[in-house]
Amino acid sequence: MENKNNFKVDENLKHIAFIMDGNGRWAKARGMERPEGHKEGVKVFERVANTCFEFGLEAVTFYAFSTENWKRPPEEIQTIMSLLAMYLDKCGDSLIKNEVRFRVIGDKAGLDKDLRKKIKKLENESKQFKRTLNVAINYGGRDEIVYACQRLVSEGKEINKENFSLALYTEDCVDPDMIIRTAGERRLSNFLLWQSSYSELYFTDVLWPDFTDEDLKLAINDFYSRRRRYGGL
Ligand code: FPP
Repeated sequence: MENKNNFKVDENLKHIAFIMDGNGRWAKARGMERPEGHKEGVKVFERVANTCFEFGLEAVTFYAFSTENWKRPPEEIQTIMSLLAMYLDKCGDSLIKNEVRFRVIGDKAGLDKDLRKKIKKLENESKQFKRTLNVAINYGGRDEIVYACQRLVSEGKEINKENFSLALYTEDCVDPDMIIRTAGERRLSNFLLWQSSYSELYFTDVLWPDFTDEDLKLAINDFYSRRRRYGGL
């Protein structure tokens, strides 16, 4: 991929995870229905994912639908699921061409059968690539921890930190160095609870549909201004 911005990350920043918040407020502020905000949000997701890989990141993760989001109106849920299906149809080939591994993290059993089929197909076709795009759908951090415990028990594996990490939905993916949340709230909302132990947290008031590549650069520059001590001095 061509990097028009000539902006590169180094080995200290391998993985950024995004909590894409503010789609509903963005739509309401324009007198539109909430699903319109998600339609704009998916365009931003697509652009930001590409930009991250252009910047040299190894992994990116996007929180698209939580286990708690089933409480939303059916029309809104339907919009988010169809947006994912459309994204897979539209962008699957270019992910493979750009050598990006696609993975859904979350409880896929709770998703519609056709959507599951599309996900599985792209996951299989892209599994040999190292750079990773994780999309969290029907995802809950606590559910993921319980899932990992059950997996270790059923596979008869020893419970230790290494095996535990590998048993999570994210498996061998490096932990996020930074988590960016848009739209002003300052919490993790059940996202990557195990993996975020040492993630730098970055919050911005910008609503997700307004999030630009310049906003991403601001976040990355902020990351580089911090000193990560991992409990040391
Ligand atoms: C949070 O904003 C956003 C979501 C719950 C859904 C995010 C979904 C997308 C960006 C589109 C689908 C993306 C993919 C990858 C299929 P909110 O609705 O809670 O906004 P609010 O806090 O302003 O109400």
